[in-house]
Amino acid sequence: MPRLLRIDVSPRMEGSSSRTIANQFIDVWKRKYPGGEIINRDLAKITLPHLDADTTAAFVTPPEERDDVLQEAVTLSDQLVQEFLTADEILISSPMYNFGVPSTLKAYIDHIIRAGYTFSYHPQEGFSGLVKTKHAYLALSYGAAGYIDGQMAQIDFLKPYLEAVLTFIGIPHIETVYIEGAAFAPEAAEQTKALVPERIHSILGFIETTP
Ligand SMILES: Cc1cc2nc3c(=O)[nH]c(=O)nc-3n(C[C@H](O)[C@H](O)[C@H](O)COP(=O)(O)O)c2cc1C
Repeated sequence: MPRLLRIDVSPRMEGSSSRTIANQFIDVWKRKYPGGEIINRDLAKITLPHLDADTTAAFVTPPEERDDVLQEAVTLSDQLVQEFLTADEILISSPMYNFGVPSTLKAYIDHIIRAGYTFSYHPQEGFSGLVKTKHAYLALSYGAAGYIDGQMAQIDFLKPYLEAVLTFIGIPHIETVYIEGAAFAPEAAEQTKALVPERIHSILGFIETTP
């Protein structure tokens, strides 16, 4: 049975559009995989440190050569990387903040994109992703409308960025469910919200049958 790592970002526990999409997704996912395991990594409930000099030094120092200070500096990142690597599927729910990912999600990404763990580099072959996870799902919420295929698309650094990072580490299939206009365009919000359940079913390839 698959193990899904759910990563939430919005600081809002109530009324969060991105968390609502993720909840809807989880409902369907659980019905598709009744014995599936869900691991929750809520970035609003922890404060991830920004990478500092010791952590970045530890990243490029083999474990057997690290002193206690470097080992301590990389412990949290190691834990997050292990958690990420044990997941068969990844769900990230996130709002757009200032045209991109909230800084909490960027901090998380900085901790898990690690040479030798989630990607590798060879002088001849270039970069390769090391993550075996095949599917990532994005549950995204935009305050304005027009980012997905409208006038704002050029300044959407949320969805394309997450797709680029996840592709870089080797995840081949990335699907997005989104709400646009959640803060500024009520009509678009209603329209995109209404499409969420069908989109989730189509992504998961799961049609429920009533007994
Ligand atoms: C600090 C901050 C920055 C935001 N920046 C943007 C933005 O650049 N573009 C946009 O469309 N909406 C922006 N929004 C609106 C949020 O993306 C929108 O309200 C979203 O639904 C929030 O997600 P949540 O409901 O899951 O918390 C911003 C909101 C906040 C609080």
